[in-house]
Amino acid sequence: MTKINVGILFGGKSAEHEVSLQSAKNVYDAIDREKYNPVLIGIDKTGKWLLNEGSRFLLHADDPKQIALNKAGDPVALVSGSGGVLSNLKTFGDSGRIDVVFPILHGPFGEDGTVQGLLKLADIPFVGAGVLGSAVGMDKDVMKRLLRDAGVPIGKFLVLRSHETALPFAGAAAALGRPFFLKPANMGSSVGVCKIHNEAEYHAGLTEAFQYDTKIVLEEFIRGRELECSVLGNENPRASGVGEIISSHEFYSYDAKYLDEKGAVLDIPAKIPDAVKVRIQALAVQTFQTLCAEGLSRVDFFLRDDGEVIVNEINTLPGFTKISMYPKLWEAAGVSYTELIDKLIELAIQRFEKERNLKTSFT
Ligand SMILES: Nc1ncnc2c1ncn2[C@@H]1O[C@H](COP(=O)(O)OP(=O)(O)O)[C@@H](O)[C@H]1O
Ligand SMILES: [Mg+2]
Repeated sequence: MTKINVGILFGGKSAEHEVSLQSAKNVYDAIDREKYNPVLIGIDKTGKWLLNEGSRFLLHADDPKQIALNKAGDPVALVSGSGGVLSNLKTFGDSGRIDVVFPILHGPFGEDGTVQGLLKLADIPFVGAGVLGSAVGMDKDVMKRLLRDAGVPIGKFLVLRSHETALPFAGAAAALGRPFFLKPANMGSSVGVCKIHNEAEYHAGLTEAFQYDTKIVLEEFIRGRELECSVLGNENPRASGVGEIISSHEFYSYDAKYLDEKGAVLDIPAKIPDAVKVRIQALAVQTFQTLCAEGLSRVDFFLRDDGEVIVNEINTLPGFTKISMYPKLWEAAGVSYTELIDKLIELAIQRFEKERNLKTSFT
């Protein structure tokens, strides 16, 4: 059997670059070598694509505080319409072909439809949501408006734009109560997310978050537990069991997620009543479909103290280290990490084949 060349696209021009390096390492280690030939393509922080050797594609691979992309590889580019030919920008020869791409990228320029658009132009199947699902899933303002329209329960929110006069603190506090959350509309891994208790924090938070995006979302503070559910599939997605994030920090911040080993624990399955679990699973699938997601997503929830379930957000390319919630929830459902990668690649190829049959000319 000829092996399928899987381009693993990782790193990226994003504040979540380092998180992606860890996910890529895990996927590279676990992918089924009988079936697949992994081709590592690291994207550096300026956006350059570098073809990496498997043995040394990361520096300080085992230290999340120092992990870095090894930039020794040749620069490459995907040739549009070529069906996966990698052009070597140093030798001007070609550097082989990839049959399918697994983008393990988080945040802007990876999870937001930009890379997905490039892969579509290159005419190559890829794992995860397409351009539309990626873009709406990334933008917390558009995401919330679509969910609200579909009747999915979400918290109160307001949107601020950098070209507008900032809403005074008193106005925000009157609309949302205190404390409230402030975050860039397009970001992830809690980068730029602040919990605001007073006016000074509000102004500092605005300055911080506007460094990452021209649009900010303010949200009422939801007091309760944080629950997550994994979704897998294309047209008929299925939901996993539910996991809980128990953070020891004031909220599930970047440090709690990635730097502090004791920052959070994942509790799988979450200790919740069966009826809450079933409700979350149904809302996870509804959220996935409402937001045009495909392949995979993790849907994150709050369970308010009064028992109400609220959708916080969707992650169309969730953290993918072996200890991340997305694969852990599937493992608990009997799908191993290696099988999960296999299934995702299969879904990518199925979607591609289906879209390939669409007419591109009018006759
Ligand atoms: N409205 C909110 N109420 C309570 N906690 C929140 C709220 N919004 C965010 N948080 C906390 O901040 C974390 C990160 O926010 P989130 O919206 O999930 O952003 P990201 O996309 O960066 O993960 C959440 O996991 C949660 O701990
Ligand atoms: Mg989140």
